[in-house]
Amino acid sequence: MGKMRLDKLLANMGVGTRSQVKTMIRTGRVSVNGEIAGKPEMKVEDGRDRILADGREVCYVKYDTYMFHKPAGCVTATNDSHDRTVMDYLDIPGKEHFFPVGRLDKDTEGLLLITNDGGMAHDLLSPGKHVDKTYYAKVEGRLLPEHGKAFGAGLDIGDPKPALPAQLRILSSGEISEAEVTVHEGRFHQVKRMFAAVGCRVIYLKRLSMGGIVLDGTLEKGAYRRLTEEERKRLDATKK
Ligand code: URA
Repeated sequence: MGKMRLDKLLANMGVGTRSQVKTMIRTGRVSVNGEIAGKPEMKVEDGRDRILADGREVCYVKYDTYMFHKPAGCVTATNDSHDRTVMDYLDIPGKEHFFPVGRLDKDTEGLLLITNDGGMAHDLLSPGKHVDKTYYAKVEGRLLPEHGKAFGAGLDIGDPKPALPAQLRILSSGEISEAEVTVHEGRFHQVKRMFAAVGCRVIYLKRLSMGGIVLDGTLEKGAYRRLTEEERKRLDATKK
């Protein structure tokens, strides 16, 4: 979120108009990290600096979403007693309010959105919304066009209801095959179970995109960046 002027932050928060909050600051009614802040132009960082106005804490909650390139070997959780979690990779202001949108298996790599926007996460994950997710998969077993048809028809993966129709794009076929698969729901181990249903075992899985957000090819494994304005808009459009 970066640094911003104290008077601007307070005004943005609705504590008062810009001139009212300047007066509040000059008259000693605002403190930053326990010290009276006398200067409206003082720079503060939301999520790091503790700001009180008339003794009451001002929390500047701004929704933010990051894309993270999840490496294999870490778990999608906010805390875990023995495994490294995706959150261990992040150093962002107000981190305690952030969480991963959905989950990837420990051995799955690729795009994971991390947000503090509960409403957005709920919309993206809600079963009725059918947000697209595309994965690259390497599997043991020969993928054939008939498998594409089976994915498209909705596979029985052992749940009471078959999987929704999914798109399989075969990239190479051999003892080891490669494909891209797009699913429109998010069941537990969904992609692995879909390939298992056609007799193939997933040996590598990477999520390439979710809800119109494509993993940035320049992001190294373990790296993250804030979504661009354009990506945020795309996400807003997806969830409607
Ligand atoms: N499907 C899976 O089987 N695993 C994942 O991590 C994501 C989708």
